[in-house]
Amino acid sequence: MRYYADTDPALSTMEIEHRDTVRKLAGECVVVMENNGVLPLKSKGNIALYGNGARHTIKGGTGSGDVNSRTVVSIEEGFEAAGFTVTSKGWLGRYDDSLKNHQEKYLERIKKKSEELGMPEGMVMFADPIGIPPIPPITEHDVVESNTDTAVYVLSRDSGEGGDRFFTQKDYLLSDDEIKDIRKIASSYENAIVLLNVGGIIDVSTISAIEGIGAIVNVSQLGNMGGHVVADVITGKSDPSGRLTDTWAMRYEDYPCWSGFSHNNGDTDDEFYREGIYVGYRYFDTFKIEPKYPFGYGLGYTKFDWDFKSASLDGSRYTATVGVTNVGEYDGKDVVQLYVSAPYGNIDKPYQELRAYAKTPLIKAGESADVTLTFDMKDCASYDTGSACMILEKGDYLVRIGSDSRSTFVASVISLSEDVIVSRHKNLFKADVEFEELINPLLARDEEDITEAEKLTLDPKSIETVTFDYVTERHLLEDRRSGEHLTFDDVLAGKATVEELTAQLTVEEMAKLAVGAYESDALMQSNVIGSASLLVPGAAAETTDKLYDSRKIPLMILADGPAGLRLQPHFKADAQGNRIMGGEVFGMAFNPFPEDLPEDHVDYYQYCTAIPIATALAQSWNNDLIELCGKIVGEEMKKYFVHLWLAPGMNIHRNPLCGRNFEYYSEDPLISGNCAAADTIGVQSWGGQGTTIKHFACNNQEDNRMYSNSHVSEKTLRELYLKGFEIAVKKSQPYSIMTSYNLLNGTHTANNFDLIQSMARDEWGFEGVVMTDWYTSQEADFMGPPSDKYPCSSSPLCIRAGNDLQMPGCEKNVTDIIDAVNDGSLPLADLQFCICNALKITARCFA
Ligand code: BGC
Repeated sequence: MRYYADTDPALSTMEIEHRDTVRKLAGECVVVMENNGVLPLKSKGNIALYGNGARHTIKGGTGSGDVNSRTVVSIEEGFEAAGFTVTSKGWLGRYDDSLKNHQEKYLERIKKKSEELGMPEGMVMFADPIGIPPIPPITEHDVVESNTDTAVYVLSRDSGEGGDRFFTQKDYLLSDDEIKDIRKIASSYENAIVLLNVGGIIDVSTISAIEGIGAIVNVSQLGNMGGHVVADVITGKSDPSGRLTDTWAMRYEDYPCWSGFSHNNGDTDDEFYREGIYVGYRYFDTFKIEPKYPFGYGLGYTKFDWDFKSASLDGSRYTATVGVTNVGEYDGKDVVQLYVSAPYGNIDKPYQELRAYAKTPLIKAGESADVTLTFDMKDCASYDTGSACMILEKGDYLVRIGSDSRSTFVASVISLSEDVIVSRHKNLFKADVEFEELINPLLARDEEDITEAEKLTLDPKSIETVTFDYVTERHLLEDRRSGEHLTFDDVLAGKATVEELTAQLTVEEMAKLAVGAYESDALMQSNVIGSASLLVPGAAAETTDKLYDSRKIPLMILADGPAGLRLQPHFKADAQGNRIMGGEVFGMAFNPFPEDLPEDHVDYYQYCTAIPIATALAQSWNNDLIELCGKIVGEEMKKYFVHLWLAPGMNIHRNPLCGRNFEYYSEDPLISGNCAAADTIGVQSWGGQGTTIKHFACNNQEDNRMYSNSHVSEKTLRELYLKGFEIAVKKSQPYSIMTSYNLLNGTHTANNFDLIQSMARDEWGFEGVVMTDWYTSQEADFMGPPSDKYPCSSSPLCIRAGNDLQMPGCEKNVTDIIDAVNDGSLPLADLQFCICNALKITARCFA
């Protein structure tokens, strides 16, 4: 076996470059929430660091989203490298003891549970995360010993796939220990700063209510350079120009779906999206609920003045220019946001929706720069379920420009004299259970002063109605070159088409190609999910090579993300290349390497860069920055021979407690779509490596994730949960889409023809390959108990739906497909269609 990994453990030039790039960029992901002027710190010297994330800084969440980097720079290390003397070592040592004790007990518990349940430890860990140990009290002695007037408290939270977060202390809420400690620093130090090293929303109201806290900064989880980035930001070397991409509520109960979410109501089988389109600011702004920090909010260190320069309408495209002047003391970047309030007519609508945004370049104190904001009025249409049309209703569209969703001014008013049908669709997502959705109760908008606003008129004739051709049946391919034995090499050489090659394959051959390289099950079981590849250890899986000898069809390697490329950083093989099992995968070595290693064994290294988590990237509001991060990942994929990145994740942040929110960007689909597109453009810029946008769709809950049924209306799907995927597909054509585990209105998304074929392919023009999430269509006991309520997804129905690859799959998937074609329940043309999709992407990877 040939590995692509390095045999030299030394830092490579590429690794150094990637680290430097991330360090330079990541300050933009940091959001200053409160600052009384204490930041940036004016001088270096002694500093007291406290909190569970000070020494054990979280670089990103757990599970398949955890990237195994060489090292992680903690905030303590970051401050020390920046020239501070950390003078709270006593407290940090006491926290270490508490953590060690907690970890030992945890590992024992996991091992025991794993034996009892017959599940790999990694899987048990998913459902039962380690949590936070008791936090030692900060004593008067600590304060005196620290000998400084500046204290930084780093509050961390961790979560990951397979389990949702809890509305309890040590999770969404602060623990009593933490509150006491934060009060202590507030009363004992002149400069008391709280840093949130979190992947998602927590109860920040409690912290800001503590008198004496000078600054609260959401430093998020910034990858393996995190500690350096934080030190750069705190000292003002980098500008923290991040803005929130979620609404941070005063109280958790202010989120509209709080009571019914996941385990909160004791029912994880059925999740009714009763709040409809009213998620995040769409809810808070429409229903006039005061948030703690609105969507789009962030302070930075400097101040900006804006000059609205011009606006125009060219056909249906609106463009505005805003001049931004830095009137503060520090150099910095600003984010200009544009929201549109569509007229309240017959179709339900929120108060406003984000339609465009722009990040300025770095503007020096006293200097100015112009930014351009543009959007198409067609994107302001709302879905009318009765007529199955996207409609722009007549009336006045108010274009608001502002620095967050609550601080805007009306820049333009665009009038439309008649209703315009932007596109005609088919309703694709019939409810399996009827339920009532929240609607906007307002019949009229509040009076607003719009005298200063620029008045524009949209000509209804500038918009042509779009219609779609929906595929219902696929065409059977006939073997037109029957005298020849075509191979994949012929396809690569341009001597045969993918269709011609597919037409020569037997049902058995195609069924094998439609299922991943499941032989590595044994490896997977001994290890954990997300590392089933043989060729590239730590990669999540690979497609099959069963048709390599006969047809030269190569396998593709698939590895996780989104916070970088997830591979096993260090593995061993004997001199013949046979893997020696063992090594660290989830940050904890359950399977140490054997002691009797052959003398001539070889050590291999795959050190990848952990970039900021998706939420942090989104907080930069900078698509160029995200594209650069995508480029980093793409280059590492090329180096380590990975073809498809199982990222970015782009589910909507519906509720703060979703365990995987850190892997996703925002509560808003425009941001999610733009970020996923930027990531994709970066990764795919190398040629031969592609992204897999996931989890398609409505995987907004982790508890019971394989069997939970998301009940969502057609309108809400189209305007919110599918919108980001639509934007990403149209802007960047990712190589792949991964369906989710859950059911959507009673049908597993993996089996949903309307979602995969009618929506992604027919309406959006998706040209890539669709794959399942891991072990879909398998009652895999190691993934948790089967459901009493809902059946498992079906392998033949995946093929019918156009879900081309079942990953990593099992023997039963193959036989189920063969049986279904043979008994006539699955059209052969459907299987051929899936194989063509898979081979087309394989061809792009090996071109
Ligand atoms: C996750 C996916 C991931 C896959 C492979 C699944 O458990 O849901 O996001 O890509 O594992 O590791």
